[in-house]
Amino acid sequence: MKIIRSISTLKNELGRGKKKGRSVGLVPTMGYLHEGHLSLIRRARKENDLVAVSIFVNPAQFGPNEDYKEYPRDLRNDAALCKRAGVDFIFYPAVKAMYPNGYSTYVKVEGLTGNLCGKFRPSHFCGVTTVVAKLFNIAKPDAAYFGQKDAQQAIVIKRMAEDLDMGITINIMPTVREKDGLAMSSRNAYLSPDERRAAPTVYRALQLARDLIKSGNRDTAKIKSEMKKMLSVVAAKIDYISIVNPEDLKEVKKIKGGAKGKLLVAVAVWIGETRLIDNIEVKA
Ligand code: PAJ
Repeated sequence: MKIIRSISTLKNELGRGKKKGRSVGLVPTMGYLHEGHLSLIRRARKENDLVAVSIFVNPAQFGPNEDYKEYPRDLRNDAALCKRAGVDFIFYPAVKAMYPNGYSTYVKVEGLTGNLCGKFRPSHFCGVTTVVAKLFNIAKPDAAYFGQKDAQQAIVIKRMAEDLDMGITINIMPTVREKDGLAMSSRNAYLSPDERRAAPTVYRALQLARDLIKSGNRDTAKIKSEMKKMLSVVAAKIDYISIVNPEDLKEVKKIKGGAKGKLLVAVAVWIGETRLIDNIEVKA
């Protein structure tokens, strides 16, 4: 496994492989890797001849008062995990390499970025799509792997890849959870022991929504209010509780059953100073 900091070196390494007909799988991450990331890496390993994992805490996707500086970092441990998972290249660029002086180009997906997290983090998705577009241009992968944990991100990236004819297969992998249901996240490291004990309520609220929908409830306002009751016990603040159509991320007011009745139930809450997001898909 090679750890590569230079854009041109990674381009050359992967370009050489591609010339020999080798397929390339890319797993973009911000590091501090856990089983969620590893599930993407393992799938990439199964499906490709060469696997590149990018580790880059992308300043462009953090708002001015967000946790860019505090975001956990541990390259040594990440490298050990990647090596064990059979990764060929870690791409670990410097901020100055990705955004040199004079950098001025941003990729913006409209429509899908106005709701859910986009409402609370207005510049976030533009930062995500910009860095992912850059990573795609650098690695030129055949396939790239993302997690359902960040459902809106996955949908936005799929849209970008399609709209810009990138010719990259976007694979979305299921959310990996701790035994108690908490979705794995690098940010879980911020939680105090008390907060960690409270955090699985986020998933329990999603399960409550699923149970209510499955047992025939059709009024999303009522379902959201039941979730709110449960979450209010542990959450310092609720950014949103949403029940949306996973195709367009528009809020659903009245649930319709049938083949098209796929719903995304998504939440973002603050447990103390830590913002947690989670979601589930429910077939009505
Ligand atoms: P990061 O939060 O490090 O996540 C990297 C990838 O791992 C994302 O596709 C995310 O959805 C996935 N992931 C995280 N936790 C997961 C879990 N519990 N189960 C399954 N997959 C999980 O998301 C980002 O980084 C950045 O926004 C990035 C796409 C790298 C752009 O900077």
